[in-house]
Amino acid sequence: MNKKEVIVALDFPDRQTTLDFLDCFPDGEKPFVKIGMELYYSEGASMVREIRRRGHPIFLDLKLHDIPNTVRRTMSVLSRLDVDMVNLHASGGSAMMRAALEGLTRPDGSRPLLIAVTQLTSTDARTLKEELLIDAPMDYTVLWYAENAARCGLDGVVCSPLEAAAVKRRCGGTFLTVTPGIRFADGDTGDQKRVMTPEKAAQAGCDCIVVGRPVTQAKNPVEAYRRCVREFLNG
Ligand code: C5P
Repeated sequence: MNKKEVIVALDFPDRQTTLDFLDCFPDGEKPFVKIGMELYYSEGASMVREIRRRGHPIFLDLKLHDIPNTVRRTMSVLSRLDVDMVNLHASGGSAMMRAALEGLTRPDGSRPLLIAVTQLTSTDARTLKEELLIDAPMDYTVLWYAENAARCGLDGVVCSPLEAAAVKRRCGGTFLTVTPGIRFADGDTGDQKRVMTPEKAAQAGCDCIVVGRPVTQAKNPVEAYRRCVREFLNG
């Protein structure tokens, strides 16, 4: 994987819609894509294999969170899919994260990158305190979870672009920050509340940006993707 990547979120309900979107791109252009729960639960592992065969690098965004043994065994299954990045919830704890790494590592020692979700960006301060009963402030919690993931040997975290710089300071420059919530300066924010442009995200220390609707819903998705890459790489 290159250090800086624009990852397109394939938030589509089925195979045909997904392939129609990917077919917009010319043969030699293969964006890094994210397959999330919607598409995976709809079409399964065969969809992952098909997209891989087409030559796209893949972030499989299934956000595992279960007992260590189950996560180890599931990661072992996922390691047989030829994907580049998978993830889990850091709130599953260090035993779960270490088990995930074990399961993900193939017999030859290779493995996809493993990154952790710290706190979902949909979780606000009130939910953290009143529902999850976490008294520490949000930024402290995010950094603590990131540090825990780094200590367990994970490769990075999913976080808000607003948190990327602090994560880098705490966990080191090589610890990856993968950040959704990206919008063009002249675009709709949709339901994302804390957003950043690709250019600002680059300046904030984001290694990979995850972009969904600004590309998938654009009149010209290929142009929108190229604009995003340009702004991110030149940022
Ligand atoms: O369409 P949009 O650019 O908002 O898509 C962002 C993608 O990143 C979606 O697939 C969404 O599920 C994902 N995501 C997010 N916020 C998080 C974690 C993942 O927006 N905290």
